Amino acid sequence: MKSARASAPGKLMLLGEHAVVYGHPCLVTAVDIRYSAAVTPLDKSTPAIHIHRAESSAARVIPLNELGQLSEPETAFVEAVVKRVHQQRTIATSLRIETDGPAISYGLGSSSAVTVAAAAALNESLDLGFGNRELFDLCFEAVLDVQGKASGFDVAAAIYGGTLYFSERGEVITPLDVPSLPIVIGYSGAKVGTVSLVEKVAQLHSRQPFMVESIFELVHRLTDDGRYALEQKAWAELGDLFNIQQGLLDALGVSTLPLSRLIEAARSAGAWGAKLSGAGGGDCMVALAEPDSVEAIRRAIHDAGGEIVEYASNASGVRIESSAT
Ligand code: PMV
Repeated sequence: MKSARASAPGKLMLLGEHAVVYGHPCLVTAVDIRYSAAVTPLDKSTPAIHIHRAESSAARVIPLNELGQLSEPETAFVEAVVKRVHQQRTIATSLRIETDGPAISYGLGSSSAVTVAAAAALNESLDLGFGNRELFDLCFEAVLDVQGKASGFDVAAAIYGGTLYFSERGEVITPLDVPSLPIVIGYSGAKVGTVSLVEKVAQLHSRQPFMVESIFELVHRLTDDGRYALEQKAWAELGDLFNIQQGLLDALGVSTLPLSRLIEAARSAGAWGAKLSGAGGGDCMVALAEPDSVEAIRRAIHDAGGEIVEYASNASGVRIESSAT
């Protein structure tokens, strides 16, 4: 048993959102907004988890046999992943878990990054021997415990990093060889929440099954074509696919006026293509930008009311930052 700290990156969906929840593929890149979790064994008689956030001295203390009631949204993901680990390898000691990371997450996957960082720090601290595949399964189950519905793409990005082709709810996770992505990320403001947007699409799916299934088939096809375009660095073709996917997300009812404004501004300033990224309803959009147009696109997004997000894409996956007995 030792103290260990791990960090994991956030994510940005490039293509495939919403259809990926139904087992279709997506393309995702890890983003270098890192969240960390530090695990320290504690000498206490009743085994319990003491969860802290770095900026606050208050702790949430949960006896190990009461884990998973998930009453506190702030600590729900950490609690859920400790519970999943405890089910697989009984934790017999008290632990302090301190999470840390940027206060503004821009919807770039802070929950999955914290979940993965906590699992990796526990793995190291207690020498549990989990490999990446087992970490993925544990963390995806934990995210499902909290959210109910999710594809697991964000968990895969936090674990493996880089840029991934992700399909069949994690049965297929393929790293793609793409050194750097010519993208500009704009933030439109906070969204209502992924679960309610996934639910909104599920309701449309039950009212219009043929239409929504057909959209998902198209999203599947354009994601496969997008993978090829990405690997070939065929940016103009990938830009077309971004624009088509945006149209389909609009058809699913998840785009918003602020997102559309930023997307139109980026296109008018010369982007190869632009779309919302993630569940929709707010958060980020992403534009594919020719180097000569980057400055004009950034300015246009800013002038249309967006905030430019400066974190790099294709970031490295979860890593142990420190480990000491
Ligand atoms: O907005 P985010 O980062 O939570 O992305 C959600 C993407 C969805 O496809 C809508 C849901 C999922 O789990 O894949």
